[in-house]
Amino acid sequence: MTVGLPEAAGRPGYPADRHPVICGVGGYVPPDVVTNADLVARLDTSDEWIRTRTGIAARHFVGPGTATSDLAVEAGLRALKSADDSQVDAVVLATTTPDHPCPATGPSVAARLGLGGVPAFDVSAVCTGFLYGLATAGGLIASGAAARVLLIAADAFTTIVNPGDRSTAVIFADGAGAVVLRAGRADEPGAVGPIVLGSDGDQREMITVPAGGSRTRSTDEQPAHGDQYFQMAGRAIFRQAVERMTESSQQALAAAGWQLADVDRLASHQANARILAAVAERLDIDPERQLSNIERVGNTGAASIPLLLAQSAESGDLRPGQRVLLTAFGGGLTWGAATLTWPDLGPHPTPDAR
Ligand code: ACO
Repeated sequence: MTVGLPEAAGRPGYPADRHPVICGVGGYVPPDVVTNADLVARLDTSDEWIRTRTGIAARHFVGPGTATSDLAVEAGLRALKSADDSQVDAVVLATTTPDHPCPATGPSVAARLGLGGVPAFDVSAVCTGFLYGLATAGGLIASGAAARVLLIAADAFTTIVNPGDRSTAVIFADGAGAVVLRAGRADEPGAVGPIVLGSDGDQREMITVPAGGSRTRSTDEQPAHGDQYFQMAGRAIFRQAVERMTESSQQALAAAGWQLADVDRLASHQANARILAAVAERLDIDPERQLSNIERVGNTGAASIPLLLAQSAESGDLRPGQRVLLTAFGGGLTWGAATLTWPDLGPHPTPDAR
């Protein structure tokens, strides 16, 4: 599916003055840094294995008692501060790790941000959550239901990863990123282009937390086989991620009418450095055009893309006017891609987005 083509005869799309336009960005990672050496001290692994297989050197973990909403509030605050106006009409929170199975975490985040009674809800698409959230926020704007939306993507992934499972514990980490979107025109800096989205539920077991939902209910007993933890078929996911991110990127470029040469920056979900390199190679995008922070923050799930955008804008790797291709892949399975032109947001209040 492609969301957000311009309105044309016989085809629904964004009305001319109701395109989603990014006007604020913010990122946040919790203060505790966990290096590969820290993991080597408690897992049968090595710094060399982690670096060469994943490209990760360090990451941030939440401490006991810190939840997804705490990360989301920090990123949301920073995005609202960087926006021209801190009022929004809705809050969309993309997360894999809600504070509770019920209710959604979005309303609590909106309340803590002092946003009054605006509609707030969660979007669940694992590591593709930010792009699904972008389409959802864009839809609210296009329909006229909202003129401004705060989209936050936050994951406390370490709260669902088995700390003793070396194949996942070295990859996943915690963080949050957020953007403010306003209604605007397709040719403005910050405008989000067509968003390509897809899913394949037949492959749902490749990335799953088997227990704790309505299929395997929570009981007083501890689930068998570590089923309360995140599980991933690493090799199969690797192949799927490369294929789906490459294919959806090509579709998003075609829908936007962009050539590969038009892409100044590739901002992929920071799944694994080898996946990112394979996607860039297949797309024929040279490494200098690829944004990456995985070495410092690991795989932060849904938060990965907006955190990358916030940190890259802050460091100057991403500059106003540059044309960006976004792509993600995650559990579900889900995947997606979109284009946007980076806006001039002025100085970035992201002092903690290391
Ligand atoms: N340290 C040392 N050895 C390890 C570790 C580790 N941390 N993890 C696994 N191994 C071992 C395995 O036990 C296996 O040993 P064996 O051959 O004796 O059985 C060996 O390394 C190879 O295991 P594979 O799983 O085949 O290793 P692979 O080279 O495929 O790397 C990895 C594993 C890093 C998980 C890889 O499959 C991968 O990157 N997959 C994609 C995962 C990913 O990026 N997921 C995120 C995308 S989806 C999302 O974001 C939700």
